[in-house]
Amino acid sequence: MSAVKVGLLGLGTVGGGTATVLLRNAEEIQRKLGRAIEISHVAGLGIAEQSIVDASKVKLTEDGFDVVNDPDVQIVIELIGGYTLAKDLVMKAIENGKHVVTANKALIATHGPEILKAANANGVNVAYEAAVAGGIPIIKALREGLAGNQIEWIAGIINGTGNFILTEMRDKGRDFDDVLKEAQALGYAEADPTFDVEGIDAAHKLTILASLAYGIELQFEKCYTEGISKITPDDVNYAQELGYSIKHLGITRKTDDGIELRVHPTLIPQKRLIANVDGVMNAVLVYGDAVGPTLYYGAGAGAEPTASAVVADIIDTVRTIDAPVEHKVPMLGFQTDSMADVPVMAIDDIETACYLRMTALDKPGVLAEISDVFAKHSISIEAVSQKEPAEGADKVHVVLLTQKVRESNMNAAIAEVENFDEIEGAVARIRVEQLG
Ligand code: HSE
Repeated sequence: MSAVKVGLLGLGTVGGGTATVLLRNAEEIQRKLGRAIEISHVAGLGIAEQSIVDASKVKLTEDGFDVVNDPDVQIVIELIGGYTLAKDLVMKAIENGKHVVTANKALIATHGPEILKAANANGVNVAYEAAVAGGIPIIKALREGLAGNQIEWIAGIINGTGNFILTEMRDKGRDFDDVLKEAQALGYAEADPTFDVEGIDAAHKLTILASLAYGIELQFEKCYTEGISKITPDDVNYAQELGYSIKHLGITRKTDDGIELRVHPTLIPQKRLIANVDGVMNAVLVYGDAVGPTLYYGAGAGAEPTASAVVADIIDTVRTIDAPVEHKVPMLGFQTDSMADVPVMAIDDIETACYLRMTALDKPGVLAEISDVFAKHSISIEAVSQKEPAEGADKVHVVLLTQKVRESNMNAAIAEVENFDEIEGAVARIRVEQLG
């Protein structure tokens, strides 16, 4: 069979990794596929100076539209990231009848409905395994391996940069900004690293996972998002004393009231496997009604781990390139006319246990006053501890673990406590999940 021609948009970290893997593993891939994959056209800034692809055999351009309009290109690989240009190029590729493989989670989470609709109308495939959790084949697991289950919940460490920062801060006492710079140098971070540390990147990925899990539309704008930049070394230490690790989790759960969709720092028991996932590694815990808990682990960012997922998508796309649509796995896992209309819940309506840390004047009666507020809001306290004040200091940290409480009740109680004269500054709150 003749080689399948692919066009590459972007030759940065992931684009370069993809070209490298396709070239290095060409023979192995051909043995699996029965035909070769040929990189025939590449677009990238400064492309003339690159050395990954052979310029005598591959067309090179700085204009991505040359690639998506090239009649020889059958599959367009979008690896430039961002929303605007990437969307225009992908829509044009679809209009031109080309299949698309992308690692762009922001694009799928925000413009996915329009892009997938256009792909369906044009009879082409949009594959996006590399968009979630880097090299972990979590999309394939949800769409195919777990297809027989009703998914009850998913909890994942799905941003490698954030996990790398938290791990380095905890294990080496390193400074937040210093570790972030290293993550950027290693090619882990987004072009705008606030996407990593403020949870936007994880929210993009969680939006996609929730769609695949429950057959709901992509609804990024309804995802509650909280970053890791306010976590202090004290919180990390107090959590450890209580037997927990702090991880930045994306959590989605199907409840009787709707779908939970939230990204925030979370205390999880140290005995859980996922609590021990460190550095740039990602892990996704999926609970299916038939299978129970399953855990997927691997590098969540970086050139070749992400390329691993991109190349798998190219291979999958080639396998069904001429197949009728009913022989293909639906792009969101469910038939497009069978999407469920289940509401995504507001964070105020969600119930979680909480870790709270407050700075209080070290004088009699303060703890009793705090307890009264929590009792008034029907919040049960599971554990409370007052940390030794530093030498000569008149203020102490008070740390509480609560039982499960509705978010709106907790907000009301925190607001009251913050009003006390004996309490200094804001109360730090980190949600707690047992994941058992
Ligand atoms: N910035 C992302 C991360 C890259 O750190 O997880 C992979 O999506």
